[in-house]
Amino acid sequence: MYRTHHCGELRSENCGTSVTLSGWVQTVRDKGHIIWVDLRDRYGITQIVGEKGVIEDVVLDQLKGLNREDVVQITGEVIERYQKNPEMPTGDIEIKAAKVNILNKAITPPFTIENETDGGEELRMKYRYLDLRRNPIQEKLKLRHKVSLETRKYLDAVDFIEVETPYLIKSTPEGARDFVVPSRMNPGEFYALPQSPQTFKQLLMVSGFDRYYQIVKCFRDEDLRADRQPEFTQIDCEMAFVEQEDVLQTFEGLIKHLFKICRNHEFEGDFPRMTYAEAMERFGSDKPDMRFEMEFVDLNPVAKGRGFGVFDSAEQVLAINAKDCAGYTRKQLDKLIDWVKRPQVGAKGLIYCKCNEDGSFKSSVDKFFDQDALAAWAKACKADKGDLLLVLSGDLATVRSQMNELRLHMGDELGLRNPNVFAPLWVLDFPLLEWDEESGRYHAMHHPFTSPKAEDFHLIDTDPGKVRANAYDLAVNGVELGGGSIRIHDKKLQARMFELLGFSDEEAKAQFGFLMNAFEYGAPPHGGLAFGFDRLVATMGGSESIRDYIAFPKNNSGRDVMIDSPAPIDAAQLTELFLATKAVPEKQ
Ligand code: AMO
Repeated sequence: MYRTHHCGELRSENCGTSVTLSGWVQTVRDKGHIIWVDLRDRYGITQIVGEKGVIEDVVLDQLKGLNREDVVQITGEVIERYQKNPEMPTGDIEIKAAKVNILNKAITPPFTIENETDGGEELRMKYRYLDLRRNPIQEKLKLRHKVSLETRKYLDAVDFIEVETPYLIKSTPEGARDFVVPSRMNPGEFYALPQSPQTFKQLLMVSGFDRYYQIVKCFRDEDLRADRQPEFTQIDCEMAFVEQEDVLQTFEGLIKHLFKICRNHEFEGDFPRMTYAEAMERFGSDKPDMRFEMEFVDLNPVAKGRGFGVFDSAEQVLAINAKDCAGYTRKQLDKLIDWVKRPQVGAKGLIYCKCNEDGSFKSSVDKFFDQDALAAWAKACKADKGDLLLVLSGDLATVRSQMNELRLHMGDELGLRNPNVFAPLWVLDFPLLEWDEESGRYHAMHHPFTSPKAEDFHLIDTDPGKVRANAYDLAVNGVELGGGSIRIHDKKLQARMFELLGFSDEEAKAQFGFLMNAFEYGAPPHGGLAFGFDRLVATMGGSESIRDYIAFPKNNSGRDVMIDSPAPIDAAQLTELFLATKAVPEKQ
């Protein structure tokens, strides 16, 4: 037996017993006549002690020879510690070493394997198996495990069945590029990895499964960000004979359950809801962070027509009120102006107006706006003395998006985005279609299987951009955790949708004939959603980055630097697949 107990287990009650522990050497503190070794495993840390004259000299020498990360088996007696450590669960005891068995020597790791490490991101990823030994990362993966377990328990209890769907499929149009896999048995042809199991889960509804779920890997070849990975996991769900309200209630229940069990967090009442149009107008985002207010104020009525060309020529002048920030110094304001001018935000400039404590106003456009005019701004923004108004202008869509960035930035700066506060929001009534300037045609905003709202359907020919969909997202703390829709289950409507999206009859049949055929054999009304599992767990853990919650993530260039992938394949493999590669241009 390698061990009688694990390293987080022993307490005062165990004193006097002989135990065997196995684990990694965390630290060695050698004081000459006495030596302490911290032994670590997944469950905790236990202190081993060896004192000259108390334990055998050979054992003492073996302890002295230990290095960080050696894997050892230690047998000894549990004894009461002279100096207890209340910070450690095992801090009342230590093991008086009687036998040391080195199971595997370790060379010096490239970074310290402790809660705080000196390893940078790239190094940690290259040696991810060492990084994963660190307690904070193990805690994150334990949370992930718990959330997946509780998801399964919850969904099973309400009659969902987990069904696996294939990974080698044909392209699904979810908006991103596909990863493709060449087929050796069908030369010249390719599978695509699923961006989601969307069509399969709909087919399972046609097959009568009624309630399906799957914790499933999805693959999207898109630019990466903190909350995006090329392969990620969804809690993917679908239900038959449901309307939007059924879906929202079922999955609000799931999210509340997960937060309660896994985070000990209870939400009060129902999750708030907001239409897409309202979210865009008030916050310039379809996933507003509701932990703080700082809503947009339409300043057009009081800012345009005063001779200030920038505002006069703009479609929209917007303001936010940064409460109690009138004390911002010139330097702080300049920093803010530089911040909005960064290419990631792209504003040309930022106008401010301080609402001074003495009731006067000081703006960066005093030349065009006198005290009365600025008082009208302050009134529109419901500003009090001591507040700071920040103003941007431009065309509506651009200024909303820039102001959204600025609002989030100010939220960060003012400490209003506490990761241990959770603010959920259902965003409803998304537009069905989105105009794409590049291709000069409409794209499905969610995906082409989403149904239009019955009351808007009459606009489909005359004003398709105005048609709203039965589509919804759940945002928590400004992160889109999930989204879904009530689907089209009628062949004719689905065909019309493909037509609107610019598919010819033949293209639609070639790509989605199977789905449209299935709809002819008795398709129930159905709908569902998918949560981004990595995002859900990261949000629950209080982080915006999903990477630490994935055991083996890719870096920003989509590389796994540990296994060094992607990598070229050898000529024989290419030949077998009837493939040839072109010379790759030198990187800029
Ligand atoms: P959607 O494309 O909105 O919907 O994806 C659902 C959720 O998956 C997460 N997500 C991602 N997480 C990490 N990295 C990525 N690259 C990534 N892309 C998406 C998000 C998102 O809300 N089939 C539909 C769902 C449905 O209609 O039922 C779908 O995939 O949290």
